[in-house]
Amino acid sequence: SGDGSKEKEKTLAIIKPDGLAGNHTNKIKEIILDSGFSISREMIVQLDEDSVKRFYVEHSSKSFFPSLLKYMASGPVLIMVLEKESAVADWRAMIGPTDARKAKITHPYSIRAMCGLDLQQNCVHGSDSPDSAARETSFFFKESSSGQTFNSCFS
Ligand code: PPS
Repeated sequence: SGDGSKEKEKTLAIIKPDGLAGNHTNKIKEIILDSGFSISREMIVQLDEDSVKRFYVEHSSKSFFPSLLKYMASGPVLIMVLEKESAVADWRAMIGPTDARKAKITHPYSIRAMCGLDLQQNCVHGSDSPDSAARETSFFFKESSSGQTFNSCFS
């Protein structure tokens, strides 16, 4: 503010097991960078079901939860922190609707339309609000006093 510069915002992006296994990573990263985001943190991790359970805790009462846990722990994922002005809303708009089958019809140029399959195998995740982005970012990445980043999700 003050000097008129736009504030950068962070959001958490995940390339899910189907996205990573389907070799969509390079294309997705190219789209991310071409859209003006910087990728300030990234790591590939194999999540266990307990970590997934804590990450998606808000969905723990849903009927699909056990299936979501198995799926997200079925193979490695790429976790990224994306930064730019309006990162949360812009990344959500780029990935398209949750159901990749619907995305192929209504948002054919979205990332889920290009790379996803259905409601579960939808290739990517994006934080749904700035509050979620803050929680999800610190779920995976913590900064020590020396500025060193370390993986916080299994601690
Ligand atoms: S809700 O009910 O509107 O809050 O859920 P939604 O935001 O649509 O989805 C939340 C995440 O759960 C995944 N999901 C599913 N997984 C498996 N089976 C079914 N039926 C299903 N429905 C939703 C969905 O991919 C969302 O994952 P994220 O990573 O948040 O996009």
